[in-house]
Amino acid sequence: MDEELREAARDHLIRYGQGDIDKLYVSSTGTTVTDDEGREILDFTSGQMCATLGHSHPAIVKAIQMGAGNAIHLFSGMIPEAVARLGQKLAEWLPKPLTRSLFVNTGSESNEAALRMAKMVTGGYEVIALGGSWHGVTGQAASASFASERRGYGPKVPGVSVIPEPYSYRCPIGHCRDNCDMSCMKVGMKMFDMASEGAPAAIIAEPILSAGGVLVPPEGYFKKLKSEAEKRGMMLIFDEAQTAFGRIGHKFAATQLGVTPDIMSVSKTLGGGLPLAAMITSDKIEEAAHEKGYAYYTSHVSDPLPALAGLAVLETVEEENLIERAREMGGYLREALETLLQKYEAIGEIRGQGLLMGIDLVKDRESREPHLELGLMTTKRCMELGLSMNIKHRPERGAVWRIAPPLTVSKAELDKGVEILDQALRESLDELARNPG
Ligand SMILES: Cc1ncc(COP(=O)(O)O)c(C=O)c1O
Repeated sequence: MDEELREAARDHLIRYGQGDIDKLYVSSTGTTVTDDEGREILDFTSGQMCATLGHSHPAIVKAIQMGAGNAIHLFSGMIPEAVARLGQKLAEWLPKPLTRSLFVNTGSESNEAALRMAKMVTGGYEVIALGGSWHGVTGQAASASFASERRGYGPKVPGVSVIPEPYSYRCPIGHCRDNCDMSCMKVGMKMFDMASEGAPAAIIAEPILSAGGVLVPPEGYFKKLKSEAEKRGMMLIFDEAQTAFGRIGHKFAATQLGVTPDIMSVSKTLGGGLPLAAMITSDKIEEAAHEKGYAYYTSHVSDPLPALAGLAVLETVEEENLIERAREMGGYLREALETLLQKYEAIGEIRGQGLLMGIDLVKDRESREPHLELGLMTTKRCMELGLSMNIKHRPERGAVWRIAPPLTVSKAELDKGVEILDQALRESLDELARNPG
């Protein structure tokens, strides 16, 4: 441990909301991250939900080494072979008619590119997003995001409407309890129609609203959303940043739902930890955009090195049967979490699919008031005991843990993580009972 370096981090880095810098991290492999005291921590968030193959999977390391020796970066107008191969491979994975990809770096950027295309092709500019959604921090993506703080950054892009999200555990329109009848969508679309200036462009949605509290919309929700989009001549954009490439036990949420969007954005789970994202659409939409002069030039569009990592991710998911594995391990994890649900009144609900799970902490199961204090205490205690978990704790979004370990996680690692969670919950509840308030 280098105390001076920790001090340097505190003195010279800009804080971006990540909390106090009380230690630094030196390495990561598989499901484990190692800090500067040599402590090993189980990573139940796959980094920032990106290390789906586990940290530094040999296939990713090999791809990076190969890419580094071959071509790291090219002029954006030169299409590298690796990018052509990745486009072809993705088209094999995707539901038809999604066959064309644009490769960029981050999830925010892929949504930026998607919204630009939807606006150009439809000629409109009005965008609908769901309450509790998170599409990124860049201009248009941030304008369509509602899970985080919007105050203080100036005006957002005009034309964005928000509709109430399908969150039956805490229905935003106070209508349902546990069974969403989609009145939220009906009300939302009615409000949109009332406010519309006649220039509809797109509806953008995460198939599982992750930052919003791991909300899984009810059966039929996206079919209906697609038909609402079609009725208005809007494009449906699925933001599959977290749901694509196996995390939820399917290739894509779109394939599981049987709903193919007009445009899909993928990011986090594509790069194996490297910045790689894509905006994907059909021949028809691509052609229409091209005819109108669609451009998306950035310094790192179509970069060769991350494309090789993307190919390695897809090949590894296939070779190691990680989609089936996510389903199997997700089932195993859910069962273990259900035992905690039986044990602790403070767990209000367990939600999610595959290896993307949410645990909603409440003061009591009747009022469902979010137990923010317990969430923060337990998260801190988990870290002390060697488990890294992510908690969402904006009061209106509940106190929800997000659990998303790598798809390569073992049963023993899941057992250990749940054991730590159990101990941390027990100790935190005892502490709160001893010192209420
Ligand atoms: C669903 C979703 N979309 C988009 C983003 C933004 O991605 P990035 O942080 O790579 O810009 C995120 C990031 O958390 C996300 O969860």
